[in-house]
Amino acid sequence: MTKVKTPSDPQPIWQREGEAKREAVREMFADIAPTYDRVNTIVSTGQDEKWRRAAVEAINLQPGESVLDLCSGTGAFLPHIMAKVGEAGLVTGVDFCAPMLAEAKTKFGEKVSLQVGDATELPFQAESFDAMTVGWGLRNVPDLDRALSEAARVLKPGGRFVTVDMARPRGLIGPISEWACGTIVPLVGRVFGKTEAYTYLPKSAQRFASREELTAKMEKAGFSDVQFKDFYFGNICMHWGVKK
Ligand SMILES: C[S@@+](CC[C@H](N)C(=O)[O-])C[C@H]1O[C@@H](n2cnc3c(N)ncnc32)[C@H](O)[C@@H]1O
Repeated sequence: MTKVKTPSDPQPIWQREGEAKREAVREMFADIAPTYDRVNTIVSTGQDEKWRRAAVEAINLQPGESVLDLCSGTGAFLPHIMAKVGEAGLVTGVDFCAPMLAEAKTKFGEKVSLQVGDATELPFQAESFDAMTVGWGLRNVPDLDRALSEAARVLKPGGRFVTVDMARPRGLIGPISEWACGTIVPLVGRVFGKTEAYTYLPKSAQRFASREELTAKMEKAGFSDVQFKDFYFGNICMHWGVKK
């Protein structure tokens, strides 16, 4: 198993900032890449595909469009995008963790373009894409503002953007729901020998931007018509908007 804590930086991954977080996150995903899809299905009780479909619907993809899936990982968003843009479309997945992309490569081969790259420094020219999806990616990026302005940079004016990520459940059910997620998810991770990675998931959700903060950050980065919608008792939230 990849070592994610070092004597010089004994903090758990979810408490790290900046470069220390970036590197620990990359190592963590490299470690869980082979089991990522299976564990994802278990911890989402099989609903993750439904949320991805909802995200793709929210940005109204059209045949022939050019779409970037940021933080693409094992490529779980890609079939949903491909189904909408069809043969004439151009689908690109980018991720900074090569072992995650290697899993995607085994599924999609040459049907999509998969590139190693960081969300805060995308290897694309300005105004390259009609639309962009991000699934459970932004929470992991140390510099969220920079990732959002990169997203805006590579989208064409009028380009649509959607992100789905963990969120803090609200209302009466909030504390119970958060407790359940914070207890069950690490237990599932433990079964797969990945306790730290699946403790990181609920812990990082607690530290991630709130719904309103993420909306404000998207607007500041250059998106308009920003909306959000909760799923799974508010443990998951989707934000979408249009590049001005
Ligand atoms: C939880 S996985 C999500 C994968 C996929 N989007 C999905 O829906 O299942 C998060 C992915 O974000 C990637 N990631 C995290 N930080 C990143 C960064 N700064 N730049 C690019 N990719 C990053 C990780 O390597 C990982 O593959």
